[in-house]
Amino acid sequence: MDEIATITIDGKSYNFETFVGTEGERCIDIQHLRDVTGCITLDPGFGSTGSCLSNITFVDGANGILRYRGYPIEELAERASFVEVAYLILYGELPNRTQLLNFRNQIRVHAPIHTNLEHHFSGLPHTAPPMAILSAMLNLVSCFHPEVLEVPTTGEEFGQTASLLLSKVRTVAAFAYRTASGKPINQPNPNLTYCGNFLHMMFSDPYVEYKVSPIIDKAINLFLILHADHEQNCSTTTVRVVGSSRANLFSSVAAGVSALMGPLHGGANVAVIEMLQDIKRSGKPLQYYIDRAKDKKDEFRLMGFGHRVYKNFDPRARILKKHVDEVLGALNLKDELLDIAKELEEHTLKDQYFIERNLYPNVDFYSGLLLRVIGIPLNMYTVLFAIGRMPGWISHWKEMHDHQQRISRPRQIYTGPILRHFQQISDRL
Ligand code: CMC
Repeated sequence: MDEIATITIDGKSYNFETFVGTEGERCIDIQHLRDVTGCITLDPGFGSTGSCLSNITFVDGANGILRYRGYPIEELAERASFVEVAYLILYGELPNRTQLLNFRNQIRVHAPIHTNLEHHFSGLPHTAPPMAILSAMLNLVSCFHPEVLEVPTTGEEFGQTASLLLSKVRTVAAFAYRTASGKPINQPNPNLTYCGNFLHMMFSDPYVEYKVSPIIDKAINLFLILHADHEQNCSTTTVRVVGSSRANLFSSVAAGVSALMGPLHGGANVAVIEMLQDIKRSGKPLQYYIDRAKDKKDEFRLMGFGHRVYKNFDPRARILKKHVDEVLGALNLKDELLDIAKELEEHTLKDQYFIERNLYPNVDFYSGLLLRVIGIPLNMYTVLFAIGRMPGWISHWKEMHDHQQRISRPRQIYTGPILRHFQQISDRL
């Protein structure tokens, strides 16, 4: 039975209901706290705040558990395709054969983008970061599809909107890369898989069609599955907050892309590689970097370490570490940065600072190394994260609507100057 939590303020006690989730997580429902007590809670960074009830993803940070709709990430990573996982996250159940074929087909037909939208790419400088292009273009895509701007009311409408977005994000991402590389864009090829088509649009040249290697196709598929959702992280929360104003899905996910860009979130997969390259170039011992990360006066952090939720290990990092080794073996390659990364992990596992703070490699520590090994350019790492996260963003946006969530509008405690009065300097000014 759910218990009652009692809060005492100024000697007066107030009772609040508690709620237990299906996996035993507990919360105190304080939605009416301010109305009855006059007080609000203070939780910058939302470390102790539940912003919603959600059926999509379960994370148990203490035990390194991640499940999409109840299915363990390890099983999905081993055996599923990204499109199958996207369907699972969007609809709540795995598709049967017919449903999967239909969904694939819906994604396939939405792959080309409107010619007028294509023209926008040619107006961008070659220095434009693909993440900035992606965010802007996702907003623009909606201008060409007014039919998907309303909140879908039927399963059919939702399927059309979701498959359109999953498809367009891939095309726009590949075109963003071609633009940033000063190369002509490649039209999608309907005969390829979701990942294969992305690789073709990224790497084919006018006279040489890119031959999609099954090893690389599988690696991208795995990468996308591992990023498909991660409950209320910074970008997903952004999508839900923007969507709570009833902004359309495209504007909401464009905002998600912006939130993902930062180096503390999705941008960490780039920051990790830059850090490892810097370590290699400098020739300084690893201890130099570890000491800097521990020094509170130094802003340097070990990128790819630490997580708000995982306090033991990040299951995605484990899967990726193993897979990088497998891909290197299959391609008969070596990577010096991977050696440095593994050595760095070993050092930190023995270091009291990292042990006491539960700082372990997170998903971004090995994901960048995987992308590097299979030849994905550095400026596309976070873009790939965004493609992978799309099913999660769409599902959370939809769930937020289904639950008729109120507009997100936190309170604050004001700490600025108290009332003072304006003094005019001069009549002339
Ligand atoms: N290197 C050195 N010290 C760290 C690190 C790190 N990477 N991460 C956390 N700490 C320390 C931090 O200084 C603090 O120490 P103290 O208690 O002495 O003040 C303590 O650990 C707790 O850190 P926090 O910043 O309060 O933790 P948070 O939950 O607010 O931040 C984080 C989580 C992931 C932003 C942070 O660990 C970090 O900046 N990591 C590096 C960036 C990174 O890898 N980001 C990817 C996150 S995973 C995937 C994703 O979300 O995209």
